[in-house]
Amino acid sequence: MTTTSSRRRTAILVSGRGSNMTALLAAAADPAFPARIDVVIANVPGAPALEKATAAGIEALAVDHRGPGGRKAFEERLDAELRARDIELICLAGFMRILTPWFVDRWKDRLINIHPALLPAFKGLDTHARALAEGCRIHGATVHFVRSEMDTGPVIAQGAVAVRQDDTPETLGARVLAVEHAIYPQALRLVASGAYEINDMRVCASEGESTTPAALIVPGG
Ligand code: GRF
Repeated sequence: MTTTSSRRRTAILVSGRGSNMTALLAAAADPAFPARIDVVIANVPGAPALEKATAAGIEALAVDHRGPGGRKAFEERLDAELRARDIELICLAGFMRILTPWFVDRWKDRLINIHPALLPAFKGLDTHARALAEGCRIHGATVHFVRSEMDTGPVIAQGAVAVRQDDTPETLGARVLAVEHAIYPQALRLVASGAYEINDMRVCASEGESTTPAALIVPGG
């Protein structure tokens, strides 16, 4: 397959509702955005995100992780769908499967994820409840390159919110989600532009690069 576009060919992998996917699709609807979304793939047939992607005019399909052959066969099917479309970048957006080192290494530095906490704090699930239980005053979200250890990898962007006295996991999570929708497109913009270097765990934007996502702080209290 050949393309005349210089925009990076990008896939979004989802498992559920797809609000981060929607934020990425909205950003990439601008022809000047350096990534274009070529396909959305869910590991769960019927995931609501698939219908939303189709409605936005994006190819959407399911690669069911419960298909024959176990985890390796699932990742091979996924990899084949991505390569068939000459995908260059992958955004995990609420993709609830742990990927094996085989897949992660094949897509090293081209695979990014969003996590609803300020990594390296609160890897894993139930991040908002855990941040509240620990008495955090600041909480947030992280976009990072994926490495084979779960929720680790060079940080591309982070956004923070102040924790309120009366927050519940739901109210805190809602404010963090709004931050996610802001930082994920910024992070993808930087990665797709190519104007950065990865030095161990640090992502350094090129000098003069205007799309540096840096950190986003949402005031409140
Ligand atoms: C987000 O909070 C994301 O950070 C986490 O899963 C959630 C997915 O939400 N990995 P959505 O499907 O993007 O709405």
